This record gives sequence, C-alpha cells and structure tokens, in this order.
Amino acid sequence: MAQKTSLSRLKLTDFRNYAEAALSLDGRHVVLTGENGAGKTNLLEAVSFLSPGRGLRRAVLSDVTRVGAAAGFTIFADVDGMDGEVSIGTGIEPGEGENVTRKLRINGTPARSTEELTDHLSVLWLTPAMDGLFTGASSDRRRFLDRLVLSLDPAHGRRASDFERAMRSRNKLLSEGRFDPSWLSAIEAQMAGLGIAMAAARQEMLGLLRTLSGNSGETPFPTPVLTLEGFMDGAMDRPSADLEEDYLDMLRNGRGRDAAAGRTL
Ligand SMILES: Nc1ncnc2c1ncn2[C@@H]1O[C@H](COP(=O)(O)OP(=O)(O)OP(=O)(O)O)[C@@H](O)[C@H]1O
Ligand SMILES: [Mg+2]
Repeated sequence: MAQKTSLSRLKLTDFRNYAEAALSLDGRHVVLTGENGAGKTNLLEAVSFLSPGRGLRRAVLSDVTRVGAAAGFTIFADVDGMDGEVSIGTGIEPGEGENVTRKLRINGTPARSTEELTDHLSVLWLTPAMDGLFTGASSDRRRFLDRLVLSLDPAHGRRASDFERAMRSRNKLLSEGRFDPSWLSAIEAQMAGLGIAMAAARQEMLGLLRTLSGNSGETPFPTPVLTLEGFMDGAMDRPSADLEEDYLDMLRNGRGRDAAAGRTL
C-alpha cells in the first residue's frame, strides 16, 4: 500500500524571501537548518503549495510574492509521484490584485483546478501553529483528518466540497424561511449520501492508523487510542443505507433548529 513519493527538484522565483532558489534532492529525508528568519519554513510552505489550497500558512496569495518583486511568485517542482514522474509549476500572475487565484501547470499543460495535484502527490503537515488542533474546534480536526483521507482516497476532496455546497444551499433556504419540503429533501438526500460516505472514509482511515500505531509489543511508546466522536457514535458499523436514513431523519428533524442557529448543527 505504501507508495513513496519524492521531490527531486524545487525551484522558486520571487517566493517569500527567495528571489531565486533551486534545490536538488534525491528522495532521502531532508533536515533544514539555519538562522531564524533564514527561510526554512518558507521552503516548506513552497512544498505545501504542491497540494490544493493556500499552503501551510493559509496565506493570502499576494503576500507570498517576494516584497519588491516585479511579477508574481512561481514554484517549479519535479516529483516522482503516484502517477510517475511529473513536472509541476504553480504561482500567481503579476498584478492580479487581492482576489488572485493560483495557476497550475502539470507537465506544461494548464490544469483546470489545483485539485489535479492530488493525482500526483499528497502533502501533509503538522506545524506549531496547529497546536490548536488538539484543543481547538472539531472542524479543524476534521479538516486535518480529511487531508489524511485524501492521501489515500482522492475522491474524498470532491465529496467534501459537494457536501459543503449542499449544506450551504440548505442553510440558505432555511435562513430565508423557504421550507419547501421537496427542495429541502432533495438537498438533504444528497448531504446524507455524501456525509455517510465521508464518515465511512474517515473511519477507514482511523482503522489504518490504528493498525499502524497498534501495539506490536515491541515499542517503548504508549499505544494511542484513536476514536472519532460526535457523529453517530458507536453506530458506524451498521449498513450505510441505515446510516443514511438516520442522518436524513436528523436533518429533517433539525430544520427548525438549524434555521434558528443559521447553520447546520
Ligand atoms: N513576501 C515576502 N517577501 C520577502 N520576504 C519575506 C516575505 N514573506 C516573508 N519573508 C521573509 O521570510 C523570512 C521568514 O522566513 P521563514 O519563516 O521561512 O524563516 P525560518 O527560517 O523558518 O525562521 P525560524 O527559525 O524563525 O522559524 C522573514 O525574514 C520574512 O521577512
Ligand atoms: Mg520557521
């Protein structure tokens, strides 16, 4: 199952403090050392842009371009990825203002969306800024878990964004007081299908993690106990059709409450 993905080249232009930088790598582990502010995290941030989204700092893209640069930033990477060797280029165009979007080329061909990166590699990070992962909102932990799931199941990202979209339209109908039963039911059916599929994928990931971290009896480290709480606790081993029914009931019965809260509780 484990498939090794590695970076053989990373080339940056006008990225953070780097006017130009090029790294040649050979698939072994890398340790970055240097003075505070030297640009170590900036390099990791560049690698994080090889996955969809705004990178490990969740940056405003225009802030990523080197201060004083004439054009936008670019990142080029040669990756030995899940679909073989691939050249990835990403960056922003010069002077796009505040609402910039990130452009992506894969083997020189413009990609329709940065989601296409997940065909080639997955990037995961745990940074000090994510300490809150353990103490903060459960939505952050779900997002972290979903990135893990995405690394094994590329369809998970699509499910998550379709679910979000459906949930937003339901919230909108409810907040506008439009309790159109057939319209709401159609949206809720979509949410139930996607939601239960997502929950199952998360459970499966957790199972794999349990296997990986399970007690072989030979480690000096304590064995972690990994569970998902707060959604159909202890009931997830039932057939998914039953789970979808239950979830549909929860949504239907929760319409009034969700309308009052302005979100899907
Ligand atoms: N858009 C930008 N243009 C130019 N320089 C930038 C830009 N964004 C950040 N920097 C510079 O990058 C440097 C920070 O780099 P980085 O966070 O990678 O350092 P680091 O090596 O990880 O340091 P530490 O050891 O403190 O974690 C700072 O000097 C900052 O001024
Ligand atoms: Mg740093």
